[in-house]
Amino acid sequence: MAQARNTMSLPDRYCVMGNPIAHSRSPRIHTLFAQLTGQALVYEAELVALDGFDAALRQLVQTGTRGMNVTVPFKLDAARLADSRSDRVLRAGAANTLVVDADGRVHADNTDGLGLVADIVRNAGVALAGQRVLLLGAGGAAAGALAPLIAQAPALLVVCNRTHAKAQELVAQHADLVEGSATQLLALKAGALEGPFDVVINATASSLQGAAIPVAGHLLRPGALAYDMMYGPAAQPFLQWAAQHGAQGRDGLGMLVEQAAEAFALWRGVRPPSQPVLAQLRSELDAH
Ligand code: ATR
Repeated sequence: MAQARNTMSLPDRYCVMGNPIAHSRSPRIHTLFAQLTGQALVYEAELVALDGFDAALRQLVQTGTRGMNVTVPFKLDAARLADSRSDRVLRAGAANTLVVDADGRVHADNTDGLGLVADIVRNAGVALAGQRVLLLGAGGAAAGALAPLIAQAPALLVVCNRTHAKAQELVAQHADLVEGSATQLLALKAGALEGPFDVVINATASSLQGAAIPVAGHLLRPGALAYDMMYGPAAQPFLQWAAQHGAQGRDGLGMLVEQAAEAFALWRGVRPPSQPVLAQLRSELDAH
C-alpha cells in the first residue's frame, strides 16, 4: 500500500522520443509550461534506437509515461502503432503527440499544423483567410500542415514539391476538405506556379542539404510572409532569400512552441501561455 501511495504521488511523466534527440528543446518548453501553469510533471528526452521505436513505446507505456512527443524519424511509426488516431493523423499519416489513457491505450494526434497556423495567425498577426498560400514540400512536415491550413479558408492553397507525384497524392488526400468551399487546393510543379503569393511556407529539407530554394523569388508579393518550419542555422538560407525578395521572413521557433502548447493542452487539459515561452526561447537561441 505504502509503495502504491508513493507511486501515485509521483508527478506525471512525459517525454519526447527521437533520434537524434540531444538538440531537442521540448524538455525546456514543457518544463516552462509546467512552471507557468503550476502543473506537477516531469518531461525528459528519450533517445530511441532507429529500429527500436515499437519496443521503446511499449516500455514507456508500461512504466507509466502519460504522454509523448514524437520527432524525427518516428512520426510515421507513432501514427501506425497507436491504438486510435485523430482525423489529422489519419490524413497526414504522421503523429507528433501521443496521449496514454489510464488503461495504457495510446491515442495519436498531430499538433504540428495547428502550431504552424497559431504562429502565423496569432503570433505573426498574418491572416490566412482569403489569401494565396504556397506550401513547399510534400513530406511529413507538409502533410501535417495541410488540414489546419485548409481550415483557415485561404483563397488558394498550392502544394509544390520536387517529386510532383507526392504533392498530387497529398492534395488528393485532402480534396474532400475543400469541396463546396471557396478554397482552391492544387498541386503544381515549380515551373507552373503563378504569383504573387501572400504566404510561402517552406516545409522542405532543401536548406539542410545546402540546395537552392526550390521556387523563384518573384512569386512573393512584396511584404509577403515567407515562413520556414525550421529555426536556427537551418532556416537561414530561406530567410535570406525572403529578405532579398522583399518578403517578411519568419522561422519555425514559434511553430515549435505552439505545437508543444497544443500537446500540453491535450495532456493536461490546461492551455499554457505560449508568448512568454517563445520570448524566452528566442533569447536563448539568440545568445548562442
Ligand atoms: P519531413 O518529415 O521533414 O517533411 P521528409 O518526409 O523526408 O521530411 O520530406 C522532405 C521534403 O523536403 C520533401 O518534400 C522533399 O522533396 P521530395 O519529396 O522530392 O524528396 C523535400 N526536399 C528534400 N531535399 C530537397 C531539395 N534538395 N530540393 C527540394 N526539395 C527537397
